[in-house]
Amino acid sequence: MVAGNGLLLYPILGFASCVAFIYLSLGDLRSQFQQPSMGFVERNGTQFIVDGKAFYVNGWNSYWLMYQAVEEFSRPRVRTMLRAGAKMGLTVCRTWAFTDGTHHALQISPGQFDNHVFKALDRVIAEARRHGVRLILSLVNNLQSMGGKSQYVKWAWEEGVGLSSSNDSFFFDPSIRKYFKNYLKAILTRKNTITGIEYRDDPTIFAWELMNEPRCTSDPSGDTLQDWIEEMAKFVKLIDKNHLLTVGLEGFYGPTTPGKLSSNPGEWVNSIGCDFIRNSKIPEIDFTSVHVYPDLWIAEPELEDQLKFIHKWMSSHIRDGDRELNKPVLFAEFGLSNENKNFQPSHRDTFYKAIFDIIYKSAKENRSGAGAMIWQFMVGGMDEFNDDYGIVPWERPSMYRLITEQSCRLAALRQGHDQSKGRWRELC
Ligand SMILES: *[C@@H]1O[C@H](CO)[C@@H](O)[C@H](O)[C@H]1NC(C)=O
Ligand SMILES: *[C@@H]1O[C@H](CO)[C@@H](O)[C@H](O)[C@H]1NC(C)=O
Ligand SMILES: *[C@@H]1O[C@H](CO)[C@@H](O)[C@H](O)[C@H]1NC(C)=O
Repeated sequence: MVAGNGLLLYPILGFASCVAFIYLSLGDLRSQFQQPSMGFVERNGTQFIVDGKAFYVNGWNSYWLMYQAVEEFSRPRVRTMLRAGAKMGLTVCRTWAFTDGTHHALQISPGQFDNHVFKALDRVIAEARRHGVRLILSLVNNLQSMGGKSQYVKWAWEEGVGLSSSNDSFFFDPSIRKYFKNYLKAILTRKNTITGIEYRDDPTIFAWELMNEPRCTSDPSGDTLQDWIEEMAKFVKLIDKNHLLTVGLEGFYGPTTPGKLSSNPGEWVNSIGCDFIRNSKIPEIDFTSVHVYPDLWIAEPELEDQLKFIHKWMSSHIRDGDRELNKPVLFAEFGLSNENKNFQPSHRDTFYKAIFDIIYKSAKENRSGAGAMIWQFMVGGMDEFNDDYGIVPWERPSMYRLITEQSCRLAALRQGHDQSKGRWRELC
């Protein structure tokens, strides 16, 4: 408060200081609203490109950002998380851009949006930009959490237009497809009330993700899900040609690639309506998404079994990216549950490191493994938002170090990247 002291000493100086103070305040505001410059993420074959150079993702998931930004008491968590992520050299965060029909609903009912919640999402995007973090925004949930496809089906029933009570009618019911397109249009053309930038024009958004973990068990042929992805992907690209688009798949192989079914974690996923290669080949889908959850997918696995699975699962998908798809492969969620038998926190270090090493090796060889994102980070005091995968990353120094080392070695691969600049100088 130098300006305040000046005011007390000399009126003239005081006036100057006062002007300076106002100017500084404006400067402060400007730095808040005029965010650091940022280019759109692009793709060249199997690689993400930022500013003309290959870009590898060390990232994380915090699905709760918009939700927590709604109310004043919880809003600071968003800044704390994004600031901490940036400080660890993490460059991309994946988060939900939906709450359908539930508490703090962005979409209250089909086509009806709560502007107060939309402002919360505005805040999340502006805050991410401020910290130089890009966002992957997921657009609906296959699961029931925060609404999801079953909420859309419920709406259709309430409005008397539902064709089927199956929750998979989300994918095939024409009225529900219309609901979802209305939501897509609303979000893509939303003008951020803080930055003034329409979402579709905002490079802070790394990519859109159609759905979190889509599955359509009612049609094991995979045709229904394929058709839905094709239609929605075209629709997104019609409105937004700037951003990359992914599906949000877990990565399970399906009927069109019988030779790959043995790489699936179990026979039960061969017939849940997903088909990784077929779904990912759709031209409007710019990159593939794969999740890594051996502890959910394999019965009672030991850590050793999990590590073996990681290698097989990730290598198989990186090979797909290189040979069949010519697209980047992003491991958009991975994590280890603390409910595992004999779980110890050090298991997470081992598990994360195995994944980081595979990504680093792929990146070094210019292959399609484009990055990995931890599920999930929280800040302290958020137990009700934790599942058994959540961590507060700064609470375990060994984990913190592991993550920042990955940030640094991936950043170093960017040719001509200046590690003496900005955040990298302190970190690496
Ligand atoms: C895209 O990739 C090709 C082949 O890998 C390379 O020759 C070309 O220079 C790349 N273009 C850009 C803009 O990086
Ligand atoms: C659809 O999902 C909801 C919420 O998970 C569930 O209560 C309901 O039973 C499901 N409907 C059908 C027909 O399976
Ligand atoms: C990977 O690409 C970079 C930049 O194009 C090149 O300098 C390097 O030699 C490539 N590495 C391999 C292993 O192909």
